[in-house]
Amino acid sequence: MTAPDPTALAFVHRFEAATAAARPPLLLLHGTGGDESDLLPLGRTVAPGAALLSPRGAVLENGMPRFFRRLAEGVFDEDDVRRRAADLAAFVGEARAAYGLPAPVALGFSNGANIAAAVLLLHPGVLAGAALLRPMRPLSDLPVPDLADLPVLMLSGALDPIVPEANARGLAEGLRAAGARVAHTVLPAGHGLSEADVTATRDWLGDRAAA
Ligand code: MLT
Repeated sequence: MTAPDPTALAFVHRFEAATAAARPPLLLLHGTGGDESDLLPLGRTVAPGAALLSPRGAVLENGMPRFFRRLAEGVFDEDDVRRRAADLAAFVGEARAAYGLPAPVALGFSNGANIAAAVLLLHPGVLAGAALLRPMRPLSDLPVPDLADLPVLMLSGALDPIVPEANARGLAEGLRAAGARVAHTVLPAGHGLSEADVTATRDWLGDRAAA
């Protein structure tokens, strides 16, 4: 069977091949207004040598790429969340076939963390784990799939003006109810990423590579 042509994949994306075979590939998911190049430096820093697969969100909000539509800040179009999560899950499957990859660990920031959480909950089996930086719950009713022992890192900001603390806690509880092994840390930070995010993500991914 011939592998699918990477240029025919449904998402505009960048791919960097692995140079360290022991590391799982990272699926990099940018925040609102980012693109497929945004998180490559972070991915290289937190998982040196890992394959990096970095799609661009297909939704435009005033010209800014996102992974799903929102009605207002923190108010999501939940039908669109479901539809776009299915699109992203399909892309991951096609990209794995095209590039010969095992299931990736998602590394998502903000809107990218939220679509990663939606893929975890709606399409179990697509991701081997996820590092969610400043996530919030993507759906008001969280499904309870079987995520037995799936590793999930959540990094929230104590001073985040966009994500209420109870919202992030609700996502952590929902993922735990599905069986995921969730490590949730609240950092002394706002919505933007800090050096502590880089260190915590690198350490968490290092444990995954060693496992
Ligand atoms: C979202 O819309 O996913 C969150 O509000 C975070 C953001 O991207 O601004």
